[in-house]
Amino acid sequence: MTLNLDGIIGDSPVLAEVFKVLKKVAPTDSTVLVTGESGTGKELLVRALHRNSIRRNQPFIPINCGAIPRELLESELFGHEKGAFTHAIRSRPGRFELADGGTLFLDEIGEMDLSLQVKILRALQEKEIERVGGTSIKKVDVRVVAATNRDLEDEVVAGRFREDLFYRLNVIPLQLPPLRKRGNDILLLAEYFLCGHCASKERKHLKLSDKAKEMLLTYSWPGNVRELENFMERLSILCDGNEVLPEDLPQKIFDDIGETPLKKVEEVQPMRPAGFVWPTLRDMKDKDMKLKEFLEDIEGRLLGEALEMADGVKNKAAELVGIKRTTLIEKLKKRNLL
Ligand SMILES: Nc1ncnc2c1ncn2[C@@H]1O[C@H](COP(=O)(O)OP(=O)(O)OP(=O)(O)O)[C@@H](O)[C@H]1O
Ligand SMILES: [Mg+2]
Repeated sequence: MTLNLDGIIGDSPVLAEVFKVLKKVAPTDSTVLVTGESGTGKELLVRALHRNSIRRNQPFIPINCGAIPRELLESELFGHEKGAFTHAIRSRPGRFELADGGTLFLDEIGEMDLSLQVKILRALQEKEIERVGGTSIKKVDVRVVAATNRDLEDEVVAGRFREDLFYRLNVIPLQLPPLRKRGNDILLLAEYFLCGHCASKERKHLKLSDKAKEMLLTYSWPGNVRELENFMERLSILCDGNEVLPEDLPQKIFDDIGETPLKKVEEVQPMRPAGFVWPTLRDMKDKDMKLKEFLEDIEGRLLGEALEMADGVKNKAAELVGIKRTTLIEKLKKRNLL
């Protein structure tokens, strides 16, 4: 069997190891646990796993356990019967039932509440589920693949993750290496994204200069492939010439690798006025906005800044603005930022 890795870029030895395991495990029904830092491509890999399995023509049902509040997550997973709770006006199947015959992707499993972990373990062991408020048990034939950016072994030690569920999920571990360990893949990915973004903006292809390449290879990429893609999109918009020079790269890269940027004169940041000034009605009118729109705009900017500071790591960004991760995700979804 040849692997269909459509859309996964990289030929580094560390990634080749992952593909080797993927090839062996894809055709089986084993439970797989994909781990790796945020933005390393866990979701992409899980989709490839399904595409290369015998279940490929059956449903692939993802669920982000970190984005759904505990009370809703149980009925999302297992479904509910009419009248099970106040808003249950009709019966609904859960994701386990929807995935019957196919693959269920439990994304961000590390965020799941302990009480729900018990129910997942039961569903995995017995291959049957019970809807919330239901009285009967349904058999389901589902392959479960889970992903997390947490170290589940640490979570087990800290008492936040059930040991029995960890062993049940971790039958085949697939660990995605961080981007900084993938060597030349950084440049392959950079060129791939740069090319794609230039094409979609109908601008001439941008080339990476040797010095810029060297800097991309040295940077530590805390936000991994997602961060790289965002940088390349930004370059496709902001870079004036035909070649990406070191001074086109963000300050963050210089700070991280310990170099001083040769700032272009026109790029010098405008001086901020001394002290904090609340926006006034005049500012709102100048923007030609109504109150709701104005406040939403301010909120959007703060969320964007927090995400950037957190290298796209949602937990960290939520912490920076002092809201729950689930609330952050809702807000980003509303703005099509997810
Ligand atoms: N090897 C790769 N080739 C091409 N694109 C990639 C690769 N790895 C990741 N990406 C892209 O990077 C982005 C992040 O990937 P993905 O969502 O799979 O990461 P993740 O590990 O699930 O992140 P998180 O932990 O934040 O959920 C996506 O847009 C994905 O398409
Ligand atoms: Mg993900």
